[in-house]
This record gives sequence, structure tokens and C-alpha cells, in this order.
Amino acid sequence: MALVDTKQMFKKAYEGKYAIGAFNINNMEIVQAILRGAAACNSACILQTSKSALNYAGPKTLHAMVKAVIEETGVDAALHLDHGPDLETVKICIENGFTSVMFDGSHFEYEENVAKTKEVVDYAHAHGVVVEAELGKLAGVEDDVNVDAKNATYTDPDQAVDFVTRTGVDSLAVAIGTSHGAYKFKGDAKLDFDRLEVISQKLDAAGFKEYPIVLHGASGVDPAVIDLCNKYGGQIKGAKGIPAEMLRKAAGMAVCKINMDTDIRLAMTAGIRQSFAEKPEAFDPRGYLGVARTMIQELVEGKIKDVLGSTDSMK
Ligand code: G3H
Ligand code: 13P
Ligand code: ZN
Repeated sequence: MALVDTKQMFKKAYEGKYAIGAFNINNMEIVQAILRGAAACNSACILQTSKSALNYAGPKTLHAMVKAVIEETGVDAALHLDHGPDLETVKICIENGFTSVMFDGSHFEYEENVAKTKEVVDYAHAHGVVVEAELGKLAGVEDDVNVDAKNATYTDPDQAVDFVTRTGVDSLAVAIGTSHGAYKFKGDAKLDFDRLEVISQKLDAAGFKEYPIVLHGASGVDPAVIDLCNKYGGQIKGAKGIPAEMLRKAAGMAVCKINMDTDIRLAMTAGIRQSFAEKPEAFDPRGYLGVARTMIQELVEGKIKDVLGSTDSMK
């Protein structure tokens, strides 16, 4: 049981053909729900925070909370910066005990992405911290940057090899059709598994054996949870996520880390809305936040068992 980095997790996940869940956190209930869910499944996990989550909760608070709940639950977990926008944010996270960071330079021109990622990798590795980077552009919204579907670009496999070679990055987030947020597809979900396979094969041929690939924008957006939100006053229309079987397929390939935030937000919102509607006389936050926490824990357990396959990964 410890706050660890992702190296061992990814090695075991690659070999075991499963993926580790990376769930976004920004408050105590979410941290507890995820780690309790992981503990119930004897699974390792990754807790990650975006820049806006860091601004919301503070890096010291997040780190202290994660460390305490890891001790209480006995889970092996990494604390990871999600979509780090610059070296400055990376430094703040490393100073505050994060064990893994992402630098997301995917919106820069290729050479600039390489140069900026390399700078982050050099700094992080000198401090014993692993780095994830991104190549290709996902559609959707992250930290107020909105990339619409026509500006999304899938990851080029040859460029992926060049990128990993030149930056020394430890894992790579790729664009193969997933997108951030609750509105992922207009029609049917479609992921480019052939591209994923070629990326992995080319990395392997270049000497990057069992190289861990990361899938962002992987929430399932369960229609039952959307219905619950809407039943109790929500107005979430046309939301659609990634089907579980596609994520299972990716986890059986080179994908070792699967990111989910939207599903947590939806579960929390559904729990709170239901609680408010069913107990309008109540006003103790522990009541409705407790219901939301249970909903998130159940969600995480379901993801680990039915989607990620990381059950018993702490053995
Ligand atoms: O990929 C983005 C995550 O869902 C974080 O979103 O920047 O609103 O915290 P956020
Ligand atoms: P979702 O919006 O699909 O939950 O993706 C979250 C994510 O990729 C965080 O980095
Ligand atoms: Zn993401």
C-alpha cells in the first residue's frame, strides 16, 4: 500500500492485458469513493487532477487527502497531473509530492510539442517522476480549450515513434476517436483500433517493448445515470459515451491507462439531485454528499470489474 508511480502498474497491466483506471479528483468525497472502490476490488488506480482542479482544491490539500485515504484503504495509487499545460504547473505538482505528471502539448505544432515535452521529461525524470504526453488532438473540452470534431486529428504512428524517441516520455496518450466530455459522438461510437495496433507495433519495432498507451476521453456516459439526472431536474440531452466493449478491447491491447472524469461528475450529480428531490427537508451536506460518494464508489467498482479488468492487480 503506497503512493507510487505508474511504472510497475503499467508493466503488470500490459502483461495482464488489462488497464488501470485514471479517475479525476477534486474533493474529499471523490477521493474516498475512488480509493474505497479500488480497495473493494483489490485494484491499483490512478487519481488525477487537472489544472483547474489544482486551482479549486490546492495541490497540498489534494496530496494530503490522497495520502491519508491511501493509508486508510491500503490501495496502491499514483497521484497524477492531468493535462499539465506548462512546466510551471508540473513543478508545482512535483514539489507537492505528485508521482506522475502529464504534459499536454498536443495543441502546439509538432516540433514545439517535442521541445516542450522534452523539457518536462528532463525535469521530471531528474526528480524521479514519470511523464505522460499527448500526440494527436482529441475532440471535446479540457480546461476551457474546446477542440471541435473537425479540428481533432488522429495520432500518426510514425510520428509517435519519433516523439517517444526524442522526448523519452514514459507513456503516450493517443487520439483514436475518443473525446472529452459527455457528448462524444453524433452517430455511433467508432475507435480506430487498427491505428492503435500499428502505433504499438511500430513502437515495439523501434525498441520500445510493451510501451504503455493512454486513452483519454473514455467515459461510458451510462444512459441510466443520465436518466436519473434528468428525472430529478437535470437537462442533459444527447449525451453519449464510449461503449464498454470498446474499452475492454483497448485494455487488451497496448492501452494501460484509461481516463474517466465525466462518469464521476454524472454519478455525483445524479446522487445529489436524487437526494435533494427525495429529501427536500434535509440540509446536512453529509446526507447528499454521502449518497453521491456511494454512487461514485459503485461506479468505480463497476469500471474495474466490467471495463478495466484490473481486479486483483495489487497482488
Ligand atoms: O480532461 C479533462 C478532465 O475532464 C478535467 O476537466 O479541466 O474541467 O477539471 P477540468
Ligand atoms: P471523459 O471526459 O471521457 O471522462 O475523459 C476524461 C479525461 O480524459 C481526463 O483526462
Ligand atoms: Zn483527458
